[in-house]
Amino acid sequence: MTTTRPRRLAVLASGKGSNLRALAGHARAPGFGGEIALVLCDRPDAGAIEVARAHDLPVETPDPGRFRTRLAPDAERAWVELLRAHRVDTVLLAGIMRVLHADFLAAFEGRVLNVHPSLLPAFPGVDAIGRAFRHGVRVTGCTVHLVTAGVDEGPILMQQAVPIEDHDTEETLAERIHAAEHALYPEAVRRFLARPFTLEGRRVRWLATGVR
Ligand code: GRF
Repeated sequence: MTTTRPRRLAVLASGKGSNLRALAGHARAPGFGGEIALVLCDRPDAGAIEVARAHDLPVETPDPGRFRTRLAPDAERAWVELLRAHRVDTVLLAGIMRVLHADFLAAFEGRVLNVHPSLLPAFPGVDAIGRAFRHGVRVTGCTVHLVTAGVDEGPILMQQAVPIEDHDTEETLAERIHAAEHALYPEAVRRFLARPFTLEGRRVRWLATGVR
C-alpha cells in the first residue's frame, strides 16, 4: 500500500466563512487527502476568522494593500511568501472578494480552486444568486473550478444543480445554494486531491483513482 503525505491547503476568505466551516469539517475526516495549514482573510472583521479559531486553524489577516477588489502587487507577493512559509501547495478560494493575478496563480499553478454560487458559465462575478433569481432561470446551482486569470472562467471540476421553485425568494434560494456548496466544495477538493485528470481544451476529464 502506498501512503502519501496530506496536501497542505490554505483557505482564502473575506466573508462569513461557511464554506471554510464545511471544508474544515471534512478535512478532519480520514482519507480527505489534505489538511488546512493556513486561513488568510483580507478583512479583520471577516466571520471566517472566528470560524478558523473555532476549528483551531492558524489564521492571519495580512495587509491587502490599497485596492478594494484586488491585492496590491507588493501585498500579493507578501501573501505568496506567507503561503510558502506555511508550505502550502493548494489554495482554496472561499469567498475572497479579490481578483488574484498572474504571479499569484503562477506560484500555485493549477492548484488554486474556487467555489462560485451559479452554474458557470452563467452568472459569473458578483451577485450571482440574485442575478439568476431575477433573470428567472429555473435551474441554477454552484460550481467548483480551477482558477485562471479570467474571473470565474477556469476549467470546471464539479457542479451541482439547484432548481428554483415558484415559492422561492432570493433568500430561500441562497440558503439552498449555500447548502449545496457546503457539500460540493469538500467533495470536489477531495476528488482533486485523489484523482488525476486530463484537460482537453478547457474540459476536465477525471481518470481512475490514483495519486496526483
Ligand atoms: C459563497 O457563496 C461562494 O460561492 C462565494 O462567496 C460565498 C462565500 O460565503 N464565492 P462564505 O463566506 O463561505 O459563507
